[in-house]
Amino acid sequence: MAYTGYSSAGLLCFAFFLHVLHIGNADVSFSIPEEMKPGSVIGNIAKDLGLNVGKLSARKARIDSELNRERYCDINLNTGDLVVAERIDREALCGEKASCILTFELVLEAPLELHRISLQIHDINDNPPVFAKDEIKIEISELAVKGSRFRVLEAHDIDIGQNAVQIYALQTNDYLVLNIQSKSDRGKFAELVLNRELDREEQQELKLLLTAQDGGSPQMTGTATVHVTVLDANDNAPVFSQTVYKATLPENSPLDTVVVTVAATDADEGQNGEVTYELSRISETGRRVFALNHITGEIKVIGPLDFEKESMYEMRVDAKDGYGLTSDSKVIIEISDVNDNPPEIHLKSLVNPIPENVSPGTEVGIINVQDRDSENNRQVRCSIQQNVPFKLVPSIKNYYSLVTTGQLDRELVSYYNITISATDEGSPPLSSSKTVQLSVADINDNPPVFEEQSYSAYVTENNKPGSTLCSVTARDPDWRQNGTVIYSLLSGEVNGAPVSSYLSVNGDTGVIHAVRSFDYEQFRSFKVHVMARDNGSPPLSSNVTVSVFISDVNDNSPQILYPAPEGNSFMTELVPKAAHGGSLVSKVIAVDADSGQNAWLSYHIVKSTDPGLFTIGLHSGEIRTQRDISESDSMKQNLIVAVKDNGQPSLSATCSMYLLISDNLAEVPELKDISYDEKNSKLTSYLIIALVSVSTFFLTFIIIILGVRFCRRRKPRLLFDGAVAIPSAYLPPNYADVDGTGTLRSAYNYDAYLTTGSRTSDFKFVTSYNDNTLPADQTLKKSPTDFADVFGQPDESPEVGHVLLCITFNVDCDFPFNHNAFQVS
Ligand SMILES: *[C@@H]1O[C@H](CO)[C@@H](O)[C@H](O)[C@H]1NC(C)=O
Ligand SMILES: *[C@@H]1O[C@H](CO)[C@@H](O)[C@H](O)[C@H]1NC(C)=O
Ligand SMILES: *[C@@H]1O[C@H](CO)[C@@H](O)[C@H](O)[C@H]1NC(C)=O
Repeated sequence: MAYTGYSSAGLLCFAFFLHVLHIGNADVSFSIPEEMKPGSVIGNIAKDLGLNVGKLSARKARIDSELNRERYCDINLNTGDLVVAERIDREALCGEKASCILTFELVLEAPLELHRISLQIHDINDNPPVFAKDEIKIEISELAVKGSRFRVLEAHDIDIGQNAVQIYALQTNDYLVLNIQSKSDRGKFAELVLNRELDREEQQELKLLLTAQDGGSPQMTGTATVHVTVLDANDNAPVFSQTVYKATLPENSPLDTVVVTVAATDADEGQNGEVTYELSRISETGRRVFALNHITGEIKVIGPLDFEKESMYEMRVDAKDGYGLTSDSKVIIEISDVNDNPPEIHLKSLVNPIPENVSPGTEVGIINVQDRDSENNRQVRCSIQQNVPFKLVPSIKNYYSLVTTGQLDRELVSYYNITISATDEGSPPLSSSKTVQLSVADINDNPPVFEEQSYSAYVTENNKPGSTLCSVTARDPDWRQNGTVIYSLLSGEVNGAPVSSYLSVNGDTGVIHAVRSFDYEQFRSFKVHVMARDNGSPPLSSNVTVSVFISDVNDNSPQILYPAPEGNSFMTELVPKAAHGGSLVSKVIAVDADSGQNAWLSYHIVKSTDPGLFTIGLHSGEIRTQRDISESDSMKQNLIVAVKDNGQPSLSATCSMYLLISDNLAEVPELKDISYDEKNSKLTSYLIIALVSVSTFFLTFIIIILGVRFCRRRKPRLLFDGAVAIPSAYLPPNYADVDGTGTLRSAYNYDAYLTTGSRTSDFKFVTSYNDNTLPADQTLKKSPTDFADVFGQPDESPEVGHVLLCITFNVDCDFPFNHNAFQVS
């Protein structure tokens, strides 16, 4: 049939027509469940159609399928039963169609007969519900709120109707419940509803068994595992392991030392649990010495630590996770002291320079010692070296006084290097030292001191005024003007005249000059005092004695005392006629103001009336008869005597001696004539003779001196064994002033010994010599008192005084009085 146009009415008509046809063709329908075994009888079609079973074969009854190529049933020609030919799977044939009808035709031939057979296939529950996957993965954020729904894959049951999925069941759990929803079309699906909020940190995942049940009988189930993964949400801030981290660190810790490691954990995962650290609230100084590793949380030293600057650092460490949740913790780092600071010595005050006269115990300085460390490390002991006259006296706290312990003397030590050492009590201890140079200031505490105890100056008389006598030197060890020496003469008198008229001293050099010419005969020595004074204030001084010894020069000619010089008086000596040869007739007395050799006089008769009659003692001046007086001798005798001293050159004087040979003064004629008659005529020749004899004597004298000098090693002879007594009345006053202390520098020693005795005394003394004990130039030193002991008080017998001259050559006169008797009458 073919219809060119369709309409609903037409379709209806067509369906009606088909039904009519079927019915009209006595169609049969059967209803069978699916999956019947092949051969199972569906029904007896022959009977249903009223066909003759016997004829079925003959009529070639057969089942034809129009639409389906496959025949699912067949006819048993013998019985007329419709049997299942092959497996009938409703799901395969009809899928989800609610009714599944297979149509066949029963074809009979002879005559051709068509019968429609419809076979309704009933579903049987032969398929369980099946989930598409065994495991259903669902991810739920832990932040999901209660009531959130999560659709799960539905289970599929290819059966239909009641045999399709009817019930879902979820394994009981705390979090999720199942909610079955009917779909708008048909079927049901399950939703998971959050019944309680998830916490990934509590339970990361859920594995729940989901069961789907169909409504068939028997019921069939299918299961799947619902794998719920709880997705992390950054709901946890990092948490530190400690709320406060404390660490103690020695201040000398090297760089990169790990001080402390902070640790925070974050329960979240992934980025949410990735904790990084950061320092916050840290001082600027702390930032310079500590660094935090952002990842590991290690706090390391990155700068120099100094307990003395900062002993404690406090900081906050923030821990932050990937999405910025933070928490913080406190870190306290205490720095412990290390003995890294040596003591410091501060000189707070110092008296410099210190006067040398400060008394022991004087405080000269204040020292302060500090140590920046703490505790024992700042306990400091302080000392100074041993060998200085100072000590440290502990004062309040860390102060010390520097105190003198002894007398200072700038002249010995003018400065001190005082080394102050300070040591702390750390371990190891540290020490430091400071050297202070302390000067000692001068005080004028030393007077000038002369180099010698006393000074002696020797000068020959008649010196030139201004000539240098000697020089004195005084030393003063004080400083500058306190040690500058100025010389001056101490005022005094010498022989009634001020010393300044004799000497002068150069104030700077100490050289002493003579101011005038000295006269040995006036004084032989004198003493002055020279003062040395320093320039300090007040000045100090000392003085020294300078002895000036004047030595003799032969500047005085002999002076004849007796007979009195011509013209002044007329003196005549009487010579007894009966005088024998050798009788003492008279004596020429002369003195010389000089001393020593210069005063050693010798007497010579230079002219006489009768040359053979009288002789004169060379040194005594005694005039003696040479032979007996005879009658023929002239009564008037006249002698001219020359007196010479022994100086160089020698000086001489002459005198005339008138002798009258007579026993009675009454016989004496006019003596004045005698003195004149020969004088004028013969004076010239006398002088010539005198000169010759003087020269001769001089030569002799020289020879004697030389002889003595050459024969020094031999035992010296006594050169003079006689002494002349001179009436003391004739001596000039200054000749009595015999100074025993005079020590002459010449090669000869002279001395005059004062004795008492008559004018005629004639004594000898013999000296004992000892070459070995008497060095050639040893000088004789005796004081006048030595003589006084021997002679008693010479002044007490003033009426008679004799000068005894003892002259030795180059040997010491070893005061003979102990060894030799001599007469004093
Ligand atoms: C004192 O110290 C100075 C240097 O400061 C040095 O030249 C001098 O020799 C020292 N003196 C003594 C006695 O040690
Ligand atoms: C000399 O000594 C005095 C104290 O006697 C003192 O005052 C003065 O300073 C000293 N002069 C010098 C140059 O040292
Ligand atoms: C000279 O010094 C002595 C001691 O050396 C002393 O006794 C005397 O007084 C001093 N004389 C004068 C004038 O200073």
